[in-house]
Amino acid sequence: MLVTSKELLLDALKKKYAVGAFNVENMEMVIAVLNAAEEAKSPVIMQTTPGTVKYAEVDFYFANIKAAAERSSVPVVCHLDHGSSFELAVKAFHAGYTSIMIDGSKLPFEENVSLTKSVVEVCHAGNIPVEAELGRLGGKEDDLDNTKSKNPFTDPDEAAEFVEKTNCDSLAVAVGTAHGVYKGVPQINFEVLSKIHERVNIPLVLHGTSGVPDEQVTDCINLGMCKVNYATDLRIAYTHGVKEYIKGSPDGFDPKKYGAFGIEEVQKYVFQKMQLLKNQKNI
Ligand code: 13P
Repeated sequence: MLVTSKELLLDALKKKYAVGAFNVENMEMVIAVLNAAEEAKSPVIMQTTPGTVKYAEVDFYFANIKAAAERSSVPVVCHLDHGSSFELAVKAFHAGYTSIMIDGSKLPFEENVSLTKSVVEVCHAGNIPVEAELGRLGGKEDDLDNTKSKNPFTDPDEAAEFVEKTNCDSLAVAVGTAHGVYKGVPQINFEVLSKIHERVNIPLVLHGTSGVPDEQVTDCINLGMCKVNYATDLRIAYTHGVKEYIKGSPDGFDPKKYGAFGIEEVQKYVFQKMQLLKNQKNI
């Protein structure tokens, strides 16, 4: 069934587990994530970035995710990832998305507050929760290029003030992860994360999780991370599956054939991550 992220993330916060949020870019990835969620019996968030909804519009993705949700026995959320403007956030809200992120992290603090507040006002009127972001994550996602930023961490006091002023439902924070492929092993700043967790009582969101060692993800969950985002590794898995098919059948030309290989690889990856996210020592 299609649900909002509100209750799912509050339950995760209370019981110290995390809900996996997986970026889907085509129908095959939606099927793969749905199959994995069914197999793992895990609630799931399927999300699309602004770049993805430029490739095919929000209504295309919403229709795919809604179809998946209607045939699933686990709760499914359709989430806008890194909403880049008020207009896009409202468009996704009207298309039926059940969770909206507005990312004003590149703006000065007060401008981020006011943009986030404006999206919260619209979405809360329709009972749709809002994820916001404070602090600059490293790396590159879509048109958001932070590869040159020094990846400063989110300030715990600012985070508390931001949540108070915006009334957002969950908060993405910068604690040392980056989007894309890591050059070395990422080092999460657990000191900063634990201070943020002390000051902020809403669910926190971990971005840039592809390539983060599972043990670090587990430690993050114990410090309040309730939504954990994976994108790059799903793209890699899908493409790997397609390439394997083409390698074995260079003359093949049926998209359903190589699509099935892509689905299988993504499904395997997502299933593993779902086991990790729900299998916390505290529950
Ligand atoms: P990765 O691409 O590093 O997994 O990041 C995903 C993400 O945070 C989506 O918002």
